[in-house]
Amino acid sequence: MTVDTAALLDGATLRVSGLAALDPAEVRRIMVKYSFCRIRGLFGAAEIRAGLESLRRGFDPSLDNPVIGEAPGAVMKNFQKLAIGGTMQSWAYRPRFIRILYNPLWEADIYGLHGLFRKLAALRNRLQGHPEGYAIDTVDGGMWTAARVQHYPAGGGFLIPHRDTVISKVNSDAGIEQFYQILLPLTQKGVDFERGGGFVELEDGEGQRVYIEDNIEAGDVVMYDGRTVHGVADIDPHKRVNLQTMDGRVVMFASLYKDMSGDSRLYAEYDHMEREAKA
Ligand SMILES: [Fe+2]
Repeated sequence: MTVDTAALLDGATLRVSGLAALDPAEVRRIMVKYSFCRIRGLFGAAEIRAGLESLRRGFDPSLDNPVIGEAPGAVMKNFQKLAIGGTMQSWAYRPRFIRILYNPLWEADIYGLHGLFRKLAALRNRLQGHPEGYAIDTVDGGMWTAARVQHYPAGGGFLIPHRDTVISKVNSDAGIEQFYQILLPLTQKGVDFERGGGFVELEDGEGQRVYIEDNIEAGDVVMYDGRTVHGVADIDPHKRVNLQTMDGRVVMFASLYKDMSGDSRLYAEYDHMEREAKA
């Protein structure tokens, strides 16, 4: 049975007037029903478009690091890498083509995005039941805010479908009952790119894909949880890749990461590691 995704997207969209007016129980209700949620009204279109322009100005393509090999703790500083292929220190083969720009809030605000990151982290804290400023500017209880941008380049940026089981487990180990992966898109399908985009697969039926950024408005927040199969379908495969630019799909994350800077293992895409392949 094919589901009407336009109706689903509308039903899963929560409209609020600001963070103080956001009821976490309402978000939970939508997550249970739809397995994803979109929140409209927390961020303005103008600040999102300004953020994308500011990122483009601050971005330096010459700073890309290799897929593997960074030092432990590297991502707790401003750090940029190109993640291409399936090689990583992980349990699963997880092909992807993503540029990741780590930009922790104690580092220089080189992209002019710290204001948006702080608001996004405050939303995460509200939804996960933490104090408003928890783990944003400091490491609190071994957790910190992995403020980062993911850039899926035009010309084939993608991420194979998977679940975020490790980051869910890290959060539950830290006593966080409700884990949500929260994204703030800086780009819009139909404006900044034409084809592909972030999707979730519905659990009922045949895993039908719902492109959760279709018809999105600048400023919308998107989220899913650790049980939700999600991925990114190839961004504008009909275009030639140009890694000197920020063309394609750009999203921001402010997830809680465990401080593993003393750990000997690598960080590489921590939240995309998992022990079990998709069932
Ligand atoms: Fe993921």
